[in-house]
Amino acid sequence: MSALLTAENLSFRYAGTPVLQDVNVRAEAASMLAVTGPNGSGKSTLLHLLAGVEKPWAGHVSRAPEVRVALLPQRTGDIDALPLTVTECVRIGRFARRRLTRADHAAVHDLMERLEIAHLGRRRLRELSGGQRQRTLLAQTFVQEAEVYLLDEPTAALDTATRGRVHELLTEKVRGGAAVVLASHDREESALAGRAVTLGR
Ligand SMILES: Nc1ncnc2c1ncn2[C@@H]1O[C@H](COP(=O)(O)OP(=O)(O)OP(=O)(O)O)[C@@H](O)[C@H]1O
Ligand SMILES: [Mg+2]
Repeated sequence: MSALLTAENLSFRYAGTPVLQDVNVRAEAASMLAVTGPNGSGKSTLLHLLAGVEKPWAGHVSRAPEVRVALLPQRTGDIDALPLTVTECVRIGRFARRRLTRADHAAVHDLMERLEIAHLGRRRLRELSGGQRQRTLLAQTFVQEAEVYLLDEPTAALDTATRGRVHELLTEKVRGGAAVVLASHDREESALAGRAVTLGR
């Protein structure tokens, strides 16, 4: 199996307090990996290290330069201050240093339909319910067509039907060759993954 993203012997500290010790992760093409563990065990921290938004205290994260990584963080409250509509927020996922083409707009529309937010396209993020907001951020993440998806409790705010749709989208991404790394407290959801990394014990 080819690893798209690997982390070896990762350790991390916040202001000297150890959070992760000697963690190893291999995100392989066409596979899903669950990251489990209790609150505060370091799941979000691990995803931030894999995405490169935090630097490890020890160990290293490696990925080939052509591998694109999409991160859906657990905490995204800061963006509510921006005057973005739902459609604009999803489109951001396609801004790869160029103007959006017709195909980009079609991909944005398709994901908004699948996540049932098409009718909310002109609303501001701060005018949405928690689950509608989460659907918007999921659409922004999935529209990116990355090789690696790092998803931090992606369905925690979703109703059962929408959770099922997200699981379908995850399965499609994996079939298409992507690696999905999914932090979750939901056993059923973690069971979708072929492998798991359990933190905090
Ligand atoms: N910015 C920060 N500064 C200091 N400590 C932090 C910071 N962010 C997280 N921590 C601490 O690091 C530990 C791991 O936090 P993290 O958010 O990675 O856990 P988690 O497994 O994602 O938890 P949850 O299930 O609640 O999302 C916790 O003890 C937390 O209090
Ligand atoms: Mg977390």
